Amino acid sequence: HEIDATQHNADKGEFKHYMLKEIYEQPDAVARTIEMGIDKSETAKLRNDFLQRHETQLSGIRHVQVLACGTSYHSGLVAKYWFESLTRIPCSVEVASEFRYRNPVVVDNSLVICISQSGETADTLSALRDIQKHTPAGLVSLALCNVPTSSLVRETDIFLPTLAGPEIGVASTKAFTTQLAALMLLVMKVGVIQQRMTNDYVSTLIGELQLLPGQLHASLNLDTPIKTMSESFEDKRSCLFLGRGLQFPIALEGALKLKEISYIHAEGYAAGELKHGPLALVDKDMPIVVLAPKDSMFDKLKANMQEVHARHGELFVFASESSQMIAEDRLHVVYVPDVCETLAPIVYSVPVQLLSYHVAVMRGTDVDQPRNLAKSVTVE
Ligand code: G6P
Repeated sequence: HEIDATQHNADKGEFKHYMLKEIYEQPDAVARTIEMGIDKSETAKLRNDFLQRHETQLSGIRHVQVLACGTSYHSGLVAKYWFESLTRIPCSVEVASEFRYRNPVVVDNSLVICISQSGETADTLSALRDIQKHTPAGLVSLALCNVPTSSLVRETDIFLPTLAGPEIGVASTKAFTTQLAALMLLVMKVGVIQQRMTNDYVSTLIGELQLLPGQLHASLNLDTPIKTMSESFEDKRSCLFLGRGLQFPIALEGALKLKEISYIHAEGYAAGELKHGPLALVDKDMPIVVLAPKDSMFDKLKANMQEVHARHGELFVFASESSQMIAEDRLHVVYVPDVCETLAPIVYSVPVQLLSYHVAVMRGTDVDQPRNLAKSVTVE
């Protein structure tokens, strides 16, 4: 299952790496994915044909269990925030390799969502099969997957595609943002058929979703300032990514991207946990990347940033244009286009991808095929 990147060289077009090409494909990939659920001309409601065949199944679910690995696990973490805050349906998320070995409880009427770019990840497939063996009452399984012919899609009740197109770079980019877009459609679908979301709120979200491709496009324009920022990371050994709320999973994803392709040790942290450990690591040699949209957590996050700054940490902040954050000594700011709080994790994924990419290129690593990693891990 290893992909030979040399075979595809012709497809890279103007881009130096598949990863960069795939980062730039995100506005289109996300737009295609959104169109599964939203008609361009219809702004008030979801398309009637979106998951229509599965309405009965989806109307019975009372709990969501997400299973995934790697980057796909991080999109599941965002979905948890969305499911619980928007529909009040409890949602658990777990890495498949842990779930399958701990004799977990799957409550009746669960929707099991397996998220996987490839649909062939051994741990995710095994975790699904274990649940199916125990057949809890009312179990509905769903594959959120980029490969329609995959094992995962064959073995689940519902297939929700990510229309990312083939992803060649080992480090996942467009698969991640399309997973998020599709998960938002799913949350809305369940919210609507179970009457857990008001029509007004749904149409507001639809309006915001339609702005997403444009916002992703605008965030790609940050390439130059991010490249400049990346120069500060070239000789670093370790790095922290901080976020709160919906940005916490993006902090985890940013750290994963950086370690995968630049081989710099990186950790994602919920900014509120700083004081419970990582503050001890802060010094002038460890860059700290912060995801700081102007949202309901912004003031708290600002206090966390001050804690770091006071300890001589160097901050690299992705902030909203409206946040009025001003760069100063040891505080670098790149302004990300304003976006509604709920969908901000999708837009803020782009700057962390670009940052990792540029750091890796500068360090001369094999961006598309990092050492020791495979695109699809079909063994345990
Ligand atoms: C591998 C890849 C990651 C990916 C993970 C899960 O580790 O290198 O980029 O996130 O597998 O893959 P999946 O195909 O299940 O999303």
